[in-house]
Amino acid sequence: MNGSFSRDSKFAVARSVSELRGELGRWRATGDTIALVPTMGGLHEGHLALVHAARAQFRRVVATIFINPMQFEDSADLACYPSDIERDAELLSKAGADLLFLPAVGEMYPPGFATTVGVAGLTDCLCGAARPGHFDGVSTVVSKLLCQATPDAAFFGEKDYQQLLVVRRVVRDLDIPVRIECVATVRADDGLALSSRNFNLSREERALAPSLYRILSGVAQALAPGGPAPAALEDGREALKSAGFARVDYLELRDGETLAKLERARPPARLFVAARLGATRLIDNISVA
Ligand code: PAJ
Repeated sequence: MNGSFSRDSKFAVARSVSELRGELGRWRATGDTIALVPTMGGLHEGHLALVHAARAQFRRVVATIFINPMQFEDSADLACYPSDIERDAELLSKAGADLLFLPAVGEMYPPGFATTVGVAGLTDCLCGAARPGHFDGVSTVVSKLLCQATPDAAFFGEKDYQQLLVVRRVVRDLDIPVRIECVATVRADDGLALSSRNFNLSREERALAPSLYRILSGVAQALAPGGPAPAALEDGREALKSAGFARVDYLELRDGETLAKLERARPPARLFVAARLGATRLIDNISVA
């Protein structure tokens, strides 16, 4: 893992854009199709589901691990983001990825870096409102990764639904020639959406965390018949607080394509939540059928 470019017969690690392009160029020359799976590490079965989905459709799978400082508006959050590259590399290799792109911050943002990709509208609400600047960081780094690797497709999880819409918008608006594929949220047996941030939960917090999905599902059921949303949403916020979530950033019903706020559920309605357990911020979302 410490060489600049290491390659065995199955799994390679590239640390620079030129190493990445060199390897991808060799694959392309033999006609291989290529899928990209961008991550920030701290890998779990949710990330691996993206690798498996990519593997099923494409000859080559490139995973990236880059804890992108530009998308963290809170330096304490960045400092405690989980990182274990050896473990992550092993998981990726076992899941069938062919290459790990592992750039340092200076490789992605060299001195003088001055460009930001920003998406208007879609980023005004939900995590965009709660985390100012976050989606500029995501849009910028994802644009860079797509330009660096020029894959046939890139895979993203529905777990970060607003991010998925933002990435789709960037690709459409900038005419980036890539297909964006999405994968359903992978959950623990108790319903908690898998997340790298779950590693930061204490034992007590982990025991409380599944109530996020339970309450979300309850509110979705209450909203499904199309009655007025505000009362059910307010009940949901109260239920979250009673369950131990110190702060509810949002619990909102929105259109699953435009993210416009909805007063009543109608297709494609989606329910979005972000709430904090201690210092850990958890998010989730489900469609309201
Ligand atoms: P990260 O949080 O590591 O997530 C990487 C990808 O895994 C994202 O597409 C995310 O939606 C997906 N994912 C995470 N948990 C999941 C789950 N439980 N089920 C299914 N998919 C899941 O999202 C990011 O990193 C970054 O913002 C990134 C896109 C890499 C840009 O820096």
